[in-house]
Amino acid sequence: MSDIDAVIAQLPKAELHIHIEGSLEPELLFALAKRNNVRLAYPDVETLRRAYAFTNLQDFLDLYYQGMSVLLKEADFYDLAMAYFRKAASQTVRYVEFFFDPQGHTARGVAFETVLAGLTRAQADAEAQLGLHSRMIMCFLRHLDEADAERTLDQALKHKEKIIGVGLDSSEVGHPPSKFKRVFRRARDEGFLLVAHAGEEGPPEYVWEAIDVLGVDRIDHGNRSLEDPVLVKRLAKDGLALTVCPLSNLRLCVVRDMKQHPLRRLMDAGLNVTINSDDPAYFGGYMNENFAAVAAALTLSAGELTAIARNGFAASFMPDVEKQHVLVPLN
Ligand code: ADE
Ligand code: ZN
Repeated sequence: MSDIDAVIAQLPKAELHIHIEGSLEPELLFALAKRNNVRLAYPDVETLRRAYAFTNLQDFLDLYYQGMSVLLKEADFYDLAMAYFRKAASQTVRYVEFFFDPQGHTARGVAFETVLAGLTRAQADAEAQLGLHSRMIMCFLRHLDEADAERTLDQALKHKEKIIGVGLDSSEVGHPPSKFKRVFRRARDEGFLLVAHAGEEGPPEYVWEAIDVLGVDRIDHGNRSLEDPVLVKRLAKDGLALTVCPLSNLRLCVVRDMKQHPLRRLMDAGLNVTINSDDPAYFGGYMNENFAAVAAALTLSAGELTAIARNGFAASFMPDVEKQHVLVPLN
């Protein structure tokens, strides 16, 4: 292990951009398919893993939604989340805000309550057994219409105390944040915090809309903000955090080479960046691998990596008292 990898391995980390369904490893996917008698389009783990060669976001999403077909019962969501929490804890991740995609499940006839029950039971066990605290963010699928998102928000209102915020994910281009203006306004009025994927494949205008039309508290990805210097100034002035996902960007061909990853340019512009795994089972790495990949490609120092880890806790939706406590080892 290199010196910098040793630094990363012991660094306390907060993960703010992880789709829990994107942590479904092929081995668990096949085990759940067997348990639930679900027929898969791939004969075995190796063949499926070989299909994880994406050329863009949609390519990945097509497989991601197929993968979800094995998640049917409360125990499936529990097993999914628990496997992720174990992995995260083993990488000194101390705090997690994870996304889930209820519409990806309710559209298949799985009850919203089934999803939530499995995930919240795993959260409680992760807290008790691993000392890993987490909060959850419900994402709307942006390729669906706003009315579908409105119905999903209605379902979430009964469970407000379990869900800290709402987000926006799935196919970005052609589905700007403004398409969800009303449902985000209502979510805000109901007390949810707001995030949105923007500037992953979509243009800087989508980041502007996420900020000015939706009023988000954080931007997921945001890479393409660099194309608009006025936007960069605005993000810097507001200190709005970006949840950057290096291995995801590489695997989805958002960047050609890790050496060209925009993380360092975002840092140099004074932006509040964090490092996250996005869909670790599909993109070849969890938190430590994401930190290590950019550290090596962009020669980030131990001090810079520590500052990024600190940003993760600071940009989280933890109450301030909790934040002060967890930030102590990073100060
Ligand atoms: N859903 C899961 N991962 C995603 C990503 N990287 N971008 C948009 N939607 C997603
Ligand atoms: Zn994402």
